[in-house]
Amino acid sequence: MSENNISRLERIRTDYGAWAPVYDWFARATASIGGIRAACVDQLDIEPGSTVVEFGCGPGVNFPALRAAVGATGRVIGIDVTTQMIDRARSLVARRGWDNVELICADATTPPIASVDAIVSTFVTSLFHNPRMVVTEWCNTADTVVIANFVPGENTIANAGLWAFTQLNARLFDLASDAGDALTQLDTRTTASKQALTAQMDSVVTTRHLFGTIVVHAGRKNKHENSEK
Ligand SMILES: C[S@@+](CC[C@H](N)C(=O)[O-])C[C@H]1O[C@@H](n2cnc3c(N)ncnc32)[C@H](O)[C@@H]1O
Repeated sequence: MSENNISRLERIRTDYGAWAPVYDWFARATASIGGIRAACVDQLDIEPGSTVVEFGCGPGVNFPALRAAVGATGRVIGIDVTTQMIDRARSLVARRGWDNVELICADATTPPIASVDAIVSTFVTSLFHNPRMVVTEWCNTADTVVIANFVPGENTIANAGLWAFTQLNARLFDLASDAGDALTQLDTRTTASKQALTAQMDSVVTTRHLFGTIVVHAGRKNKHENSEK
């Protein structure tokens, strides 16, 4: 891993570590807004008994819906690089007494898993230095990969809101000061993730949420039906 990537990862760990309690509260308070998290789980289209990995699981806001989807015989594996996020996810799992959720503190860009049924990642891939390369690797690991990210849409007011949100949380978006404006950077990073899905999977379904400012891309290998490229 390059020195650049190491320092980027360290920055992510430090910033998300410091913000973990606030992020946990915020993510839970806004969990149902726009139906994004529910849409991601729907798009996973997983059967009971499946194993699903969530990369960059944070404090575990998606776990209840993921557990419901995999059922009592399935497994959820949450992976995050920030210790404080994994700690919060771990206490959630302990508090609820969930015995089919496993947590791993690791870098999702070099995934510590061999093969699973499905992968989901919400608001994470745009933090990677090379989203296309990482998502390509995920596609080699699962038949379904679902990714949600912020992007500029067609609604000017919503875009202004998204821009303001990025400025308030600039460190959490890990925006580069020399790579153009915030919305262009988000667009470029999200496009890179989608390119990986398009190249690696048989179909990609895209849905937009919250006035077009959040996009969910679901890539599937062709054992699934009803999808379009
Ligand atoms: C914006 S939060 C999203 C958390 C959760 N997915 C959600 O939707 O609430 C981004 C999360 O990605 C994690 N993350 C960022 N880069 C990562 C990497 N390379 N490997 C694993 N986790 C990473 C951060 O620690 C943080 O918990």
